[in-house]
Amino acid sequence: MENTHNLVIISHIDHGKSTLADRLLELTGTIPKEKMREQFLDSMDLERGRGITIKMHPVRMTYILNSKFYILNLIDTPGHVDFSYEVSRSLVAVEGAILLVDATKGIQAQTLANLELAKKQNLVIIPAVNKIDSPQAKIGETKTDLAKLLNILEKEVFEISAKYGTNVEKLLQAVIEKIPCPKGNPEKPLRALIFDSKYDPFKGVIAFVRVIDGKISSGEKIYLIQTKTEGEAKEIGYFRPELVETYELKAGEIGYIATGIKTPAKVRVGETITKISNLNVEPLPGYQTPKPMVFASIYPENPDDFDLLKTALAKLKLNDASLSFEPEMREFLGRGFRCGFLGTLHAEITSERLSREFSLSLIISTPSVVYRVINQKNQEISIYSPSDWPPQDEIKKIKEPWARLEIITPQNFLGRVLEILKGTEGKSIETRYFGLNKVLLIYEVPLREIIVGFYDNLKGQTQGFASMNYEFLDSNPPTTQQGLGYRPADLVKLEILIAGGREEAFSKIAPRTKAYQEGKRMVEKLKKILPSQLFSVPLQAVVSGKIIARETIKAKRRDVIAPLYGGDYTRKRKLLEKQKRGKKELKEKGRIRIPPKVFLEMFQG
Ligand code: GTP
Repeated sequence: MENTHNLVIISHIDHGKSTLADRLLELTGTIPKEKMREQFLDSMDLERGRGITIKMHPVRMTYILNSKFYILNLIDTPGHVDFSYEVSRSLVAVEGAILLVDATKGIQAQTLANLELAKKQNLVIIPAVNKIDSPQAKIGETKTDLAKLLNILEKEVFEISAKYGTNVEKLLQAVIEKIPCPKGNPEKPLRALIFDSKYDPFKGVIAFVRVIDGKISSGEKIYLIQTKTEGEAKEIGYFRPELVETYELKAGEIGYIATGIKTPAKVRVGETITKISNLNVEPLPGYQTPKPMVFASIYPENPDDFDLLKTALAKLKLNDASLSFEPEMREFLGRGFRCGFLGTLHAEITSERLSREFSLSLIISTPSVVYRVINQKNQEISIYSPSDWPPQDEIKKIKEPWARLEIITPQNFLGRVLEILKGTEGKSIETRYFGLNKVLLIYEVPLREIIVGFYDNLKGQTQGFASMNYEFLDSNPPTTQQGLGYRPADLVKLEILIAGGREEAFSKIAPRTKAYQEGKRMVEKLKKILPSQLFSVPLQAVVSGKIIARETIKAKRRDVIAPLYGGDYTRKRKLLEKQKRGKKELKEKGRIRIPPKVFLEMFQG
């Protein structure tokens, strides 16, 4: 163990974690130069396509320094707030963290949030300012801010360019010097913490583990303490980053155990694996289950795919522990699942993963927070989906969740940020000037205001310089009766009718004062993105049975008489009449097919 060092790279989104991981993989010869490609560890198609990290990615590297051989287990983490559960889980598996800050942007909201998480785990922090090659880099300023934040000397902050490799080797050597070797006793009974997992049709669930105590060899019988499940270490190994088989994993190491277990729900993250021979061992503390912030319903476009969707969600959950889902049945939509997510990007990514990885064509409803409605009988109901919204005259009182929002912005954009915040009904709690030119704004805002579109708006208005982080103010789960973060609200259900039929997936809850504006925006957007039909399609926004906005998609006219030439008038008329009849029939059938991508686009606000 004295030659092993376990570490993560943490930062705000896009500050260069995966690029730094590339340089470390090169320096340590983990990936041969000819196989190297940018952001190598972002192995999912979706990650490469979007240029963001969604999953944590562990990799084992080896390095020789002063003739001594070292094993370095690195975990690259995502930066976006919706995937912070990935970060917090990886932090428990390591002893130290490289904290990267982009010199062109400075300290941002997730820099602070992730640093807090790392400090809670008592990790050794190695700070580095990245992108020093960029002409926009403010190296001195960023170093000063970072040193102040960590209460250290400026000279302790590394200056690197992950892109060109400048000073990366020095940083790597600092990892060996500063990050302590793992503690733990290989002679004690096995305790391995599952921090992630994935499904393999042949090997069953593959658990990604950090071995805390003891050791394990392949072929040994294992036992999962929480779910009381037996299994067998069919194969064990480490990440390179692909799975490489080995014969033993021992205390302090990070690797995987192929459990042979075929039921995904039996292998949970945070679970402790031990051996069948030592059943009375104390389980590890594990993880707190994250609380979903938003809910959306997911339905298969083809109702026969319900079971496929169910299996797909269970397998996806293995690889995304923050996802929660429950079956539900709805008029108009059929059988589907109510899913809980950590944010709308999380919902969007999940729906894309289901389509890509499981070839499912899906309908996803507008994401919603959990409202609480008190009806005329004084019963309090939790509303997870606009479909459950009671008729307005049955409602006595409505409460909605609030969030604590932290925004960091350079001072020159403060005016614009305040303007955005003004539109949210939020309350200012604190304004703190920090660093050389930054402002930290702390607000309390209704959660529904920030889950869709807010982040993009903030980025757009500040040339990408402002950043945000938020957390639910309510410390109780949404099902409990009382909660500090739930406050009175005046809301209505906004419905969308397409060709006269209610399209439940587009229903949403909106503040009464903004319903008209929102309804208008939605029908205008639908008009733009819905493919036109052979008949004209009215689009209506409705509140309590009253139409508040309306648009029409003009009929697509097929030129049925084009193939005719000459002047056969009766033939022309016959064809036009046949077309008219056809359109009428189609119109009577009412509902039109809405392509799944329209749901996703509407969903993005
Ligand atoms: P997430 O995981 O999605 O949060 O992103 P990340 O922190 O892993 O950032 P990533 O490595 O994907 O880099 C983001 C962008 O910054 C990419 O376009 C990189 O090419 C660029 N970048 C990273 N490091 C440097 C650097 O040292 N200099 C310059 N000029 N650009 C860099």
